[in-house]
Amino acid sequence: MDKVTAQPHVHKDPAAAHKQAQSTGAKTGEGSLRTDAKERLIVALDFPSADKAMDLVDRLDGCCRWFKVGMELYYAAGNRVIEELRKRGYEVFLDLKLHDIPNTVAGAVRSVADVGASLLTVHAGGGEQMMHAAVQAARAPGAPKLLAVTVLTSMDAAELRAVGVGGAANALHTQVLRLARLARSAGINGLVCSAEEVEAVRAAMGPEMLLVVPGIRPAGSAGQRDDQRRVASATEAIARGASMLVVGRPITESANPAWVAAGILAEIAGAL
Ligand code: C5P
Repeated sequence: MDKVTAQPHVHKDPAAAHKQAQSTGAKTGEGSLRTDAKERLIVALDFPSADKAMDLVDRLDGCCRWFKVGMELYYAAGNRVIEELRKRGYEVFLDLKLHDIPNTVAGAVRSVADVGASLLTVHAGGGEQMMHAAVQAARAPGAPKLLAVTVLTSMDAAELRAVGVGGAANALHTQVLRLARLARSAGINGLVCSAEEVEAVRAAMGPEMLLVVPGIRPAGSAGQRDDQRRVASATEAIARGASMLVVGRPITESANPAWVAAGILAEIAGAL
């Protein structure tokens, strides 16, 4: 198969990112993304083994540039799968959703700082001190950029209420914005939120914040939510200001993953 050779264009230098965004006319991002749809799609490798994950990577045959390694795959396969993805030229989003006391989270960030991931998640709900400790730990050379997860896309207002947050009609929205502001003041420069709040988050955070949106379902498949509650199409999410989209099961469980991925890339390109 053709291996992906092109390197992605997410700059770690904000000045270079801004310049590039201006020269390419990117609307959101974040400053750091080109209008190339491939830069904006992250395929979630939610598999129990490296073999199964790499099989999907092979089937996608270079049509995607970013892969997300989450808890399921990382706990089963560890750094080996990240090394393999990097060897093939892909960028890795390590979605560990760290949430613990500041000292422990900082240690975890240090432990994965040099494994080759470009993005790493922490839970904003861990609080400002925890996120600040993560930011300090991620100052190491080559460490991933940090994203703070606001409210999981699998939660709706009723579930949020059940864990003691809100009660007001717009509690979910308010909570996402509260966590986004907390993350920013802790020095985090990327957020994970759903397509339902991304427009408000973009308005509050400005154009440079990297906004990553999971819970994406291809246009016309709105009925297939799996365990997700706050879902939208790629077109909707990008039009509302998302920088990058995370897509798992619609691609990984498809009989023709490359075809589904191509459709989502076309949706993204149409919305840029
Ligand atoms: O299969 P699906 O497209 O629903 O996968 C979404 C991916 O995004 C999963 O890997 C999940 O862990 C992740 N995610 C999410 N909601 C968040 C953060 C991450 O669904 N708030």
